[in-house]
Amino acid sequence: MRTQIIQVEEIPTSVPFNSTLEISNNIHRHTHGFFKYPCKFIPNIPRWAILKYTKEGDLVLDPFAGSGTTLVEAVMLNRNALGVDFDKFSQLLCNTKTLKLSKDDLNFLSRIKDSLFNNVGLYKLPDIYNIEHWFPKENIKEFQTLKSNIDKIKDINERVYNFLLVCFASSIRKCSFADDTSPKPYVSSRIKKNPQKVKTTFYNLLDYYFNQMDSINIQKIGKSKIIGDDARNIKAEQYTNKVDLSITSPPYINAFDYVRSLRLENSWLGFYGDTNIIEIKKKQVGTEVIPIKDYIYKKPHSNSKKIDFLISKIYEKDKKRAFVVYKFFKDMELNINQVHKLLKSNSHYIIVVGDSTIRNIKVDTHNILIDIAKTKGFQLENLFSYIIKNRYLRIPRKGRGGLIKKDWVIDLVKI
Ligand SMILES: C[S@@+](CC[C@H](N)C(=O)[O-])C[C@H]1O[C@@H](n2cnc3c(N)ncnc32)[C@H](O)[C@@H]1O
Repeated sequence: MRTQIIQVEEIPTSVPFNSTLEISNNIHRHTHGFFKYPCKFIPNIPRWAILKYTKEGDLVLDPFAGSGTTLVEAVMLNRNALGVDFDKFSQLLCNTKTLKLSKDDLNFLSRIKDSLFNNVGLYKLPDIYNIEHWFPKENIKEFQTLKSNIDKIKDINERVYNFLLVCFASSIRKCSFADDTSPKPYVSSRIKKNPQKVKTTFYNLLDYYFNQMDSINIQKIGKSKIIGDDARNIKAEQYTNKVDLSITSPPYINAFDYVRSLRLENSWLGFYGDTNIIEIKKKQVGTEVIPIKDYIYKKPHSNSKKIDFLISKIYEKDKKRAFVVYKFFKDMELNINQVHKLLKSNSHYIIVVGDSTIRNIKVDTHNILIDIAKTKGFQLENLFSYIIKNRYLRIPRKGRGGLIKKDWVIDLVKI
């Protein structure tokens, strides 16, 4: 039977169970367009949940905050936002995008902006192997100068400093030899890219972001805070039973390596580099950095028959991937437990996920997560899906992860 697709501009308050929506969206409102972060979800999803389940002043949590889509929507609707993400660059984006710069900040920025390329001695080279493979020499020099000047502002005005870092990070890919369309950075040997000039790119972005920030004419916006760096262990006792809504899109299983994808930006920002990238990768939910001894000798076992059956099938074809799948669900179980603790009773946890195909075996991620959530004190309130239209937002995963064409929206309620 063909699924009926419902076309909508905004998600209606009540969505029919098991329906599929096609949503027109504006992904550039407010500060949403700052930096092309991979695998964002569309703002309509958190906006719908926030309007449906919270009122002004309430607390909204996103435990895999990414570029801060939930946090931005929450603060713009005058709710207070809490975010968790292990990636320092994500934290920088979340903090910057949810803070409306004051008139004084904007004036300060206007005053200093023309001096950002003045020669002041160079910022050290970032921790990137073979850096000239990625950037032309003159761009490396310009980035070094720019970073040195931005760093001088840190102690004078931290809000403007963060804003400039986001403009800086957004220029990096454009001014490199790396392909612009793929979320994962690589230099194509077939199609030679002409990197953009640093100064023009940076100032164009700065003007665009400045105008976006300046055009936020909402009088009262909420506050936002990063409260942790591990969605499996949030360590924020003070929010136990205090959160009114949690909404998130966790990483896909085995499909997207955020650390690799954001390595050029993180290296230039000094958050991590090529020498410690493996250690950082281990912290990701869905990580593929797994010691061989963990999966080679015995098949992993969970306490769910469905997961064990799936793992057995994958294990026959690929031991490592079987372990990756096992670990993903284990990590998500920990996360679901954490969110349950932080939510008030009768509050909702909304998880947006795509199913996967691993070694030609279908992984019914959304149904498995629902089963897990039921064992952790949640009830399923609703379930629907939406068609993925912008392929940069949710990544097409031919090959290892399969092609994801739609995302599921799982609406759980804490009982
Ligand atoms: C699908 S993205 C979230 C995108 C977000 N919804 C947005 O619109 O930008 C998943 C995020 O989970 C983060 N992540 C991965 N492992 C994590 C962990 N152990 N704890 C917290 N965040 C993690 C990644 O850094 C990434 O930003």
